[in-house]
Amino acid sequence: MSVIDIHNHFFPREWPDLAARFGTPNWPWIKHTEPGKAEIMVGDRFFRHIYSACWDPEVRLAEMDRDGVDIQVLSATPVLFAYDRPLEHALECANIFNDAALDLCAQGKGRLRALCQVPLQDPDAACKELSRCMRAGHLGVQIGNHVGDKNLDDPGIVTFLHHCADEGAAVLVHPWDMLAPQRMPKYMMPWTVGMPAETQLGIVAMILGGAFDKLPANLKICFAHGGGSFAFLLGRLENAWKHHPVAHGVCEKPPSAYVERFSVDSAVFDTRALEFLVATMGPERVMLGSDYPFPLGEHGIGSLIRSSALPQDVKSGLLGSNAAAFLGLLAQKASAGAPERGTPIVAKSEQLTYSSYLRVPELLELQHPQSKPQHHDEMLFIIVHQTYELWFKELLHDLDAVVANLKTAAANPSSRDEVYEAARLLRRCTEITRVLVEQFTILETMLPTHFLAFRGKLEPASGFQSEQFRELEFLCGLKDEKMLRYHRPTPEAHAQLERRLREPSLHDVLFKALQAMGKLKVDENANDRDKMSARAHAILSLYRDERSNRDWIDVCERLTEFDELVVSWRLRHIQLVERVIGARMGTGGSAGSSYLKLTLDKKFFPELWEARTLLTE
Ligand code: HEM
Repeated sequence: MSVIDIHNHFFPREWPDLAARFGTPNWPWIKHTEPGKAEIMVGDRFFRHIYSACWDPEVRLAEMDRDGVDIQVLSATPVLFAYDRPLEHALECANIFNDAALDLCAQGKGRLRALCQVPLQDPDAACKELSRCMRAGHLGVQIGNHVGDKNLDDPGIVTFLHHCADEGAAVLVHPWDMLAPQRMPKYMMPWTVGMPAETQLGIVAMILGGAFDKLPANLKICFAHGGGSFAFLLGRLENAWKHHPVAHGVCEKPPSAYVERFSVDSAVFDTRALEFLVATMGPERVMLGSDYPFPLGEHGIGSLIRSSALPQDVKSGLLGSNAAAFLGLLAQKASAGAPERGTPIVAKSEQLTYSSYLRVPELLELQHPQSKPQHHDEMLFIIVHQTYELWFKELLHDLDAVVANLKTAAANPSSRDEVYEAARLLRRCTEITRVLVEQFTILETMLPTHFLAFRGKLEPASGFQSEQFRELEFLCGLKDEKMLRYHRPTPEAHAQLERRLREPSLHDVLFKALQAMGKLKVDENANDRDKMSARAHAILSLYRDERSNRDWIDVCERLTEFDELVVSWRLRHIQLVERVIGARMGTGGSAGSSYLKLTLDKKFFPELWEARTLLTE
């Protein structure tokens, strides 16, 4: 997993004299004071001490190595935004620093990426500059939390954000131009008090002003400094929303419902604050942000996350995989014009990596234990179930192909290729099922006491709700409409199972094919027992003429083995259940193991077994 810092800054070693260029005062400039050190000045006013990490890629990379950071996504600083300047000046300023950012990235050995800046006072020009930068290799844009007296719900800014979503550009919102400067002239209060308030204002304006309702859900927007004071004061905002109509704004839902629409960085400098932030925002929506290399940035980047009491998988998300997903680094195609700017985890279209092809980072993000503090064995419980579901998926994939082959065989009884192919695929299904029977032993390394320690957190989730297991049963021919009731909470699963109920099963197509071959005569008026007997005799006729029916016998043998292995699966599951919860009821409301024992008699292809009885006659 790559560690990705999404909030850090740079200044070029030098840039043109903007005051002289535009003929207006108070533009930022850099004053080099001694080797490796400089001051940022705004006109005659001292603004900030900086050092060579701002412009020297070697220094930057060495410090990234020191702190275990793989990738930095750098942005310029808000002092360069120029939102209050004439458009042409702000645009030229943006051009200069956006190109300088890419020059720095080009020397970053694939470990430096950039966010651009845009003249946000003019949404059209901002959209154009964003598109130019995205083509040139930027990953997105850093914007201020307001433009003069326009907050982020301003229609022009919303138009720009819409454009960001269309371009797939990540947006980092940075507080700037802090409120009430006359009351915060000293003690860095604009940074410690003003910035958190500005950021909160940006988020609240977007929520209550209805911006999130207007913007597409694929907008990737992140607020710096942990979202400022937002998370801590969300309860207050929600309370006002509930009890004061005037506090409703124009948003469609309560403020807390919008938390899932944005992310925040981790720059909060206190482990308790970070843990609270993760609990409020959700573990997928917090990303490492350091504010490096400024004095107020994190010293020992990532140490706050690493030293927190958050579970290991959540830490991994915060340190890198959340940002990789947010920035689109996993699926992104390298910019054709700037191949040297690709990062190690970017999957170039012609150059897949192991991780990008297999979606390993996303896969490793999918384990979310519910126990707090996390119980060690819950990870095993989740991973074992997920592995079963993956194999169920493969089984469905293969069995669907078997059905398709047998349908073709039924349509053309003289062709044998499809019968061989069906047998080949069924062999795979039996081997997979054999692994699935064995796999329960891994879960049996969990003590019953350990399972009981977190079992309460799982209710009412139950194996009854395994959509794919039920699909497998329906696909093979065991269709029980009553089982649909467990899928009412998930309409897609319900609809998929209804579809499986309607479609011909493997059992149906097997006997349709035998009918087409003339092995089975179907009497629609016969009772169930006689129909069953006719099907068993059809199987019998195959086995009696081995020389002519080898391929079909192979299919029948594989199906018999599959049936047998599924019963073994049921039995091993029951043994596991008894070992772990004894005779307790299930979380799905059944009587537990005594209910499950009733399922042991279920067979997909009883005719294959019946034929064996007939053979011995
Ligand atoms: C500690 C381990 C486990 C326990 C205690 C357990 C318990 C149970 C119980 C009691 C039921 C009956 C339904 C209910 O009332 O909830 C059930 C059903 C089920 N379980 Fe498990 N289970 C465990 C592990 C697994 C695993 C690893 C899988 C793998 C996918 C699994 C898949 C299923 C399925 C598919 C059903 C529905 C079976 C049917 O309807 O025939 N279970 N489980």
